[in-house]
Amino acid sequence: MSETPSTTKKLYIKTYGCQMNVYDSERMAEALGGSGYTEVSSPEEADMILLNTCHIREKAAEKVYSELGRYKDLKIANPDLKIGVAGCVAQAEGEEIMRRQPMVDLVVGPQSYHRLPELEAKAGHGQKALDTDFPEEDKFEKLKSRPKAKRAPAAFLTVQEGCDKFCAFCVVPYTRGAEVSRPVERVLDEARDLVERGVREITLLGQNVNAYHGAGEGGTWGLARLIRELATVDGLERIRFTTSHPNDMEDDLIAAHGDCDKLMPYLHLPVQSGSDKILKAMNRKHTAEEYLRLIERIRAARPDIAMSGDFIVGFPGETDQDFEDTMNLVREVGYGSAFSFKYSPRPGTPAAEKETKMVDPDVASERLHRLQTLITEQQHAFQDAMVGREVSVLFERKGRMPGQMVGKSEYLHAVHVTDDVAVGEIARVRIIESGPNSLGGVVLR
Ligand code: 5AD
Ligand code: SF4
Repeated sequence: MSETPSTTKKLYIKTYGCQMNVYDSERMAEALGGSGYTEVSSPEEADMILLNTCHIREKAAEKVYSELGRYKDLKIANPDLKIGVAGCVAQAEGEEIMRRQPMVDLVVGPQSYHRLPELEAKAGHGQKALDTDFPEEDKFEKLKSRPKAKRAPAAFLTVQEGCDKFCAFCVVPYTRGAEVSRPVERVLDEARDLVERGVREITLLGQNVNAYHGAGEGGTWGLARLIRELATVDGLERIRFTTSHPNDMEDDLIAAHGDCDKLMPYLHLPVQSGSDKILKAMNRKHTAEEYLRLIERIRAARPDIAMSGDFIVGFPGETDQDFEDTMNLVREVGYGSAFSFKYSPRPGTPAAEKETKMVDPDVASERLHRLQTLITEQQHAFQDAMVGREVSVLFERKGRMPGQMVGKSEYLHAVHVTDDVAVGEIARVRIIESGPNSLGGVVLR
């Protein structure tokens, strides 16, 4: 395993879906680094193409098949090219992918990608490799050591995977499996490693991250305790976490938003719908009112917090009134940002059985449009309100304009300046303008 490969092979990874896939792609590239691969940015120059896929909505899965179709000519021109499918489509569809696209050499699920080097060695020239197990061994243990090379200052770190909530629309409990938390020490070690590599902001990831319950000193630790411990790591300046479920928003986590300086004032807390009837049908196990009261408590702890959320429109049985309830909830919360989706039936989920209650697609599209318009208005209002304010910005990269540097504010707004700042620097910035997707400012020295 540890032999040094003599030739360098090129790996192209395309990532779909959520931040956890971004994290997984980074880990897969690192794992294949041991087999002599370095990452490249175009499929044309690759010896191996890996699609890290998302299965959350039908469109997301279909995109994968159309992308695979595009690689046909590359495979004909270079029969040595290996094509792999990883992620949640791999998990959900397994061998079906190879049947639909015979040029796929390798299929690997999200829980078994530590076995990627062996699978890669096995695959190619008609040999197929497939692994969609939920193995006994912990993939993170197998992937323990990460390279020491410098990296960008903001990083993701998976602390929890899977979900036991079984929302009626969602494939996650099936593709990512049951809820599992990584032990505290493992998370701390990885965080320290990242900081040594130049990281100053870590976003803790989990499908249900606030249900984190990792083994730590003296017993099981919740997310708030983990965050407070991470806050003691020198050089780590900012902590975020995503995605949370309202029912796991415990008191100490709310309190941390008020008293832990390194925890950023931005919270992604999906509610999905503002109608109690729909929330019940979705198996969310909370009401709209409970969600609103929860936000009041979070805002009492951290008044300037930027709230974010996810919404589904056109869930089976959703009436005009149910949808109006969602619009009203959005008006009442006032989001800094939010994501909204048209309901997409996923095979194997309970909601997909309710075919007779399906909302007319045109009605659903119209609702989605109205909701997105409202959310965009709120997003712009929140962004415009930053003009004249001082924010703190972690600079992540050069911008498109000459001399421009781009970073993120504590509220997750993209901020650009033309001052002399370095990547990885955190500076106070006065916001002077609000553009369509970003803010402009000047660094205060
Ligand atoms: N259809 C539409 N949107 C979905 N989501 C999850 N499953 C579905 C589905 N079947 C949305 C939810 C979730 C986000 C990640 O994706 O809003 O919070
Ligand atoms: Fe899916 Fe619900 Fe679990 Fe989120 S909480 S991953 S929406 S089942």
